[in-house]
Amino acid sequence: MKLVGVLTFALVVWMLPGHSEAQPAVPLATLRVAGASAAQQAPQPQIVESAAVKVLTGLYAQQFQEEMNFITQALGVNCNTCHVRGNFASEEKPLKLTARRMLEMTRMINKQFFPDHKPKDGESVLGRVTCYTCHQGEQTPKLPPGH
Ligand code: HEC
Ligand code: HEC
Repeated sequence: MKLVGVLTFALVVWMLPGHSEAQPAVPLATLRVAGASAAQQAPQPQIVESAAVKVLTGLYAQQFQEEMNFITQALGVNCNTCHVRGNFASEEKPLKLTARRMLEMTRMINKQFFPDHKPKDGESVLGRVTCYTCHQGEQTPKLPPGH
């Protein structure tokens, strides 16, 4: 999948040391090239760290990317629904802030009610209840029939 490849490269570049929110957005074409060489030079997995990552902390880049893919699929949206193009750390889009509240809520539900569920490989690190549990592919979960 081409798009996922580009996004992965974007993630790799975004993780490079020295990157900060203050830097100007880099065009995607540049990201792809820079990302390819960065991936070759960086065999060590890196933990995703950013001032704008407040809930999904302590994850490796690949895990983090997977969580973003889960969210995207669970809501039937794309990355740009929540993210400003070229600047994933930006908090400009209100849906990103709503999504963070939802991350907090989901984490709390799991902690309180499903503490024994240990996510397997390929499952969301959030736990038994995920965005999909409620959203089922819709940006806004359905109301019950008759509403
Ligand atoms: C429904 C909203 C939503 C969608 C869709 C979404 N994200 Fe995110 N993304 C977030 C939130 C919320 C955070 C911050 C998480 C936190 O605070 O722990 C985030 C953080 C990130 C970050 C970290 C940015 C930084 O430097 O702080 C990256 C990179 C990222 N997302 C990539 C993606 C990619 C790639 C996609 C598409 C596959 C995607 N996101 C789809 C909501 C979304
Ligand atoms: C326990 C059920 C539940 C879970 C789990 C859940 N959500 Fe939601 N979410 C809702 C409901 C209900 C609404 C609609 C709230 C409203 O009508 O104002 C909503 C609304 C949203 C919205 C705003 C949609 C819009 O169109 O305004 C976003 C974005 C969102 N959720 C993201 C997420 C993400 C990301 C996750 C996983 C981290 C998640 N949600 C997990 C129930 C849930």
